[in-house]
Amino acid sequence: MISLHGLTKEFPGGVRALDALDLEIADGEFFALLGPSGCGKTTLLRTIAGLETPTSGRVTIGSAEVTGLPPGRRDVAMVFQDYALFPHMDVTANIAYPLKIKKVPRPEREAKAGETASRLSLSELLTRRPGQLSGGQQQRVALARAIACHPSAFLFDEPLSNLDARMRLEARTFLKRLQRELAVTTVFVTHDQGEALAMADRIAVMSAGRIMQVGTPREVFQRPADTFVASFIGSTPMNLLPGVVKDGTLRVAGAVLPLPPGLADGEEIVYGLRPEYMDLTATPREDGFAGHVSVVENLGTSYLVTLEVRSESGDLLVQAVVPEDAEPATGAAACAVPRHPRALVYREGKLVTT
Ligand SMILES: Nc1ncnc2c1ncn2[C@@H]1O[C@H](COP(=O)(O)OP(=O)(O)OP(=O)(O)O)[C@@H](O)[C@H]1O
Ligand SMILES: [Mg+2]
Repeated sequence: MISLHGLTKEFPGGVRALDALDLEIADGEFFALLGPSGCGKTTLLRTIAGLETPTSGRVTIGSAEVTGLPPGRRDVAMVFQDYALFPHMDVTANIAYPLKIKKVPRPEREAKAGETASRLSLSELLTRRPGQLSGGQQQRVALARAIACHPSAFLFDEPLSNLDARMRLEARTFLKRLQRELAVTTVFVTHDQGEALAMADRIAVMSAGRIMQVGTPREVFQRPADTFVASFIGSTPMNLLPGVVKDGTLRVAGAVLPLPPGLADGEEIVYGLRPEYMDLTATPREDGFAGHVSVVENLGTSYLVTLEVRSESGDLLVQAVVPEDAEPATGAAACAVPRHPRALVYREGKLVTT
């Protein structure tokens, strides 16, 4: 288990990379830290590893507070984005290196390295140097090096970002299966929301040194706690349409939309709905957004359709995902109709829960 209490990190020059952050990561959990560039993900991971000293706050691993301990005494293994392999050492020596530091006798550490290499399908490559390996193979060597010393936690900083799209998908499945087998607590940093949704048991979405939401992939996808998370999660961005409450409904761009109870007349809200939860009809409807198709993007088994909708406050863009057999023509008239149970309402940026 990893606990962080009131963790703050200020760098010289006044950058506050972590801002009074609290977080609990459960034993054996696959936990993703997700957020845009510069939000503090690497700083958080390095603080858990002991490579950064927090300005204030505490780090606990298992039952012991480790805030003041050097990295070598924390029993965690970090895998860096660039793998940080030793170029002059072969695969065996790279994997065995942490065991050498721990003064494990040579025959024992080489046996252990061989065993771990075989688990990661590296047995044929033991005598090669990193320069003679593909990106995916180098990544597996870095993983093997982390696994070989049986740490109580793995810390991964964007470990898949150097792989091409196809390798990335393979490595994702592989890594998830491996983590299940080993059942070791894993903190995985990524700026790729798809990767976090696909791999993690729980996700913390970060922005500017703070955690905006912690939840299962399902929770953060279906009920984003604020408009930042709503716009960050999802392969197509959520429609976020501002409007004013009138008689328990929302009127935006000609559409009259039912709202959950408890919203007062005149309140300014944002109506959030994923394009996947929007149907497209050819004829206009009162509970939909009528407009013209301006862009059609092929997603493989579906299309992302962008509608230009006239509204009081200028043109509004509304997106819908339609099945592959329902491709509309660019320029055609169409109406995007929300599936209401999926709609979310945000007030002052925060999800209104009813
Ligand atoms: N050693 C440092 N000195 C000063 N500022 C730093 C230092 N390291 C990081 N920062 C700043 O702290 C903030 C968080 O950086 P961090 O590397 O943790 O972001 P990140 O979320 O990992 O971003 P990325 O996705 O680009 O890797 C940034 O504003 C960064 O410029
Ligand atoms: Mg980083």
